[in-house]
Amino acid sequence: MKKIYIFSICIFVLFSCSHREDSVSLLLYNQSDPYVNIFADQIKYLGAKSFQLDTFDSQNSQIIQNEFIEEQMDKTDLMIINPVDRLGAYSIIKKLKSKGIPVIFFNREPLSEDLDLWDKAYYVGARAQQSGQIQAQMIMTLFGTDPVNLNRHDKNGNGIIETVILKGEQGHQDAEIRTSEVVKSFSENKFQLDILITEVANWKRDEAYEKMKIILELYGDSVELVISNNDAMALGAISIMRQSGFFRDDNHDGKIGTDDDSWLPVVGIDGLDEAIELIEKGYLYGSVLNDSRSQAQAIVELSEVLMKGGDLESMNFPLVDGNYIWIDYKVLQ
Ligand code: GAL
Repeated sequence: MKKIYIFSICIFVLFSCSHREDSVSLLLYNQSDPYVNIFADQIKYLGAKSFQLDTFDSQNSQIIQNEFIEEQMDKTDLMIINPVDRLGAYSIIKKLKSKGIPVIFFNREPLSEDLDLWDKAYYVGARAQQSGQIQAQMIMTLFGTDPVNLNRHDKNGNGIIETVILKGEQGHQDAEIRTSEVVKSFSENKFQLDILITEVANWKRDEAYEKMKIILELYGDSVELVISNNDAMALGAISIMRQSGFFRDDNHDGKIGTDDDSWLPVVGIDGLDEAIELIEKGYLYGSVLNDSRSQAQAIVELSEVLMKGGDLESMNFPLVDGNYIWIDYKVLQ
C-alpha cells in the first residue's frame, strides 16, 4: 500500500513538473496609452491558453522597465517587450542573451543592428511608411485626385492644401516616418501641401486638444486639413474643433459630413473603437488600422514556437530577414 502511495506521489510530481506552464513577462511602455492597452488585452486574451502571462506597466520610464526586466529575468521563459526608448533595446538584448531568454519586441522598433545582436531577438510590427501612404491616398481622393484641379475642399481655391500636422512622440519611428511619408506621398503625386504648423502632441488626446485650441486661434479659417499621427490625437482635435463651431449639420440633412461647410477633413491612424464610431458619425474622415489583433496573434504564435521548440519556418506569420514579422496597415473609412 505504502509503495503504491509513494509511486503515485512520484508520478504526480513528475507530471506536474513536465507540465509546468511556460511563464512569459509582458512589459508595456505605458498602460495609459489607449492603443497599447488594447494591444496588451489582445496578447493576454490570445496567450491565455498557451502560457502564464505577467504584465508590467513601465509608466513611460525606461528605468522602471529595466528594473522589471532585472526582477523577472530568473522567473521567466520569454519576454514580450514594448520598449520605452527604442535605443534601450541594446542593453536589454545583451542581458537577455546572457540568460538565454528569447525576446519579442513590439510597437517600438529597436535598431536592426541591436536586433542582430542575438538570434532569439525579434520584432513584430507594422511598416510606418505604409500608414503615411494610406493617409495621403485617402486625402488625395477626397480632394479630387487631380493635383492641378483640386475640388471644393481646397476652400480658398489656391491649388494648395493648407494643413496642420499633429505629431506623436519625437524620435518614435512611427511619428517620424508617418510624418515624412505622408508629406512625401503628396509631393510624389504632385499635390501641393502648405504645412501651416506641425505640433508634437506625444500621441495624447488631451495634449492634442490643447495644441489644436492654439492652432485654431492662430490659423482659424485657413486650415483645410488635419493630419494626425494617431487616432487619440485626432479625437482630441475633433473635440476642440466641435466646440469651436466645426462639424455642424449646415445643409440640414441630419448628418455631419463632407457636404457641410463647417466640415474639415481630419485623418488618424490606429483604428480605436471611438475613432471608428466618429468615422460612422461623419466627424473623422478616416483612419488606418494598425492591426493589433494580427500583431498579437503573431506574437503569441512566435512565443509558442520559441518556447516549445517548434518550426519557425512553418508559422502562419512568416519571418522576414530572420527576425521580423510585418503586419499590413489597412484603410478605415
Ligand atoms: C503607435 C500608435 C500610437 C501610440 C504609439 C506608442 O504605433 O499608433 O497611438 O500607441 O504607437 O508607441
